Amino acid sequence: MTTRHRSEPVVLGLIGLGTVGTGFFNLLQKEQKLLERRLGFPLRLKTIADRRIETKAGKEHQGIHLTSDAQEIISDPEIQIVIELIGGIEPARTLLLDSIKERKSVVTANKALLATHGEELFAAVHASRTDFAFEGAVGGGIPILRSLREGIGGNRILSIKGIINGTCNYILTRMTYEHLDFDTVLKDAQALGYAECDPSLDIDGMDAAHKLAILGTLSFGTPIPFEQIPVEGIRGIQIVDIDFGREFGYTLKLLGIAKDHGSTIDLRVHPAFLPEDSMLAEVDGVFNAVEVTGESLGPALFYGRGAGADPTATAVMGDVMELARAIHTGCFHQVPPLGFSWNDRVQRPMTGLDEVRCEYYLRFMAHDQPGTLSYLSGVLGTHGISIESVIQKGRKKGGSVPVVILTHTAPESSVRAALQIIDRSTHVTEPTVLIRVEGKDE
Ligand code: HSE
Repeated sequence: MTTRHRSEPVVLGLIGLGTVGTGFFNLLQKEQKLLERRLGFPLRLKTIADRRIETKAGKEHQGIHLTSDAQEIISDPEIQIVIELIGGIEPARTLLLDSIKERKSVVTANKALLATHGEELFAAVHASRTDFAFEGAVGGGIPILRSLREGIGGNRILSIKGIINGTCNYILTRMTYEHLDFDTVLKDAQALGYAECDPSLDIDGMDAAHKLAILGTLSFGTPIPFEQIPVEGIRGIQIVDIDFGREFGYTLKLLGIAKDHGSTIDLRVHPAFLPEDSMLAEVDGVFNAVEVTGESLGPALFYGRGAGADPTATAVMGDVMELARAIHTGCFHQVPPLGFSWNDRVQRPMTGLDEVRCEYYLRFMAHDQPGTLSYLSGVLGTHGISIESVIQKGRKKGGSVPVVILTHTAPESSVRAALQIIDRSTHVTEPTVLIRVEGKDE
């Protein structure tokens, strides 16, 4: 083990000068002195690689080697930490694997890559004994991954409920309180730099699912087969359902949910009603929050800005500092990147949506005629589903009217079976809207 001279810098290479890359660069420039005081040695950014570096290079990059070839960073023996902030699968996957092979310390914020190719990357990390950190991949500036690995690592994690997509939360918040339509608010979110380049990743729930897969594997110590996570986004959400939900005392959020059921685990992403007085229901706008319940700890809430350049750059910087300290002291691999030692991870099957048990919000568009309500409650009743409340409003001549039923806790398989019968009947004019209520755990 070698102890470095105090003033010797740790040398960085940055791949990707997009939103987060620029945020990281700016933070590094702005807080150089603070970083050195905290670390006891400086950080030196030697090279920045970006495919379109010629259009991005400016006065502020003077003294830094700029290139469009990321391999220059990977093959440079002086660069100790590679920071990958280009996102997407390729070339990010190859660049990370090459960096790991070169035994660089590696920082990434690439949630899509970690969720879908995590096993391959982590196997390479384990084999080459490199340091690898990815706090920026989940929850923007909220240090949730480090907390799961370290701060509450002594607990069995029972469940995670997260608002982990800032764009969706921003859209749902404005739809709820300003009665604006979905498309108008999405445009604002894009203009503010919250949404992914392809915003369907946000609104169809994939971005949240990527983050949930990472949270799940760190919480439960099990590989998460990403394609088995049931995912529903917010594209089809209508203001009418947000409004009815509020009449029942609920607020609509896009949730990432992970629950430990012992021999199985349950991970899913979907819109859900939350009691309006719960802390998660009060998380508005672009803010993210992750509620973790530990067996001994009980519930803990992590809250902060979940999207945007500066919060994510903050998380990336935290990782760079951790890895730079390891380089400086020579004490590598203090904490396994997934929070469990590689050989002690246990594969557990994932349950599907059919095994979910919760309360359900159901909006039927029904003909306003005698017998409709008793038909609906009859079909639900024969499937063992008991009704908690009903709202019916807005009588339209000859048309259909919304009938909203809130059920008591029921198995989703039974609710789906009942809806199959109802949606084929002549009593309703449209497919029923189903929204799960995440209130009390079963
Ligand atoms: N598009 C993401 C979001 C950015 O809206 O949360 C942060 O991952």
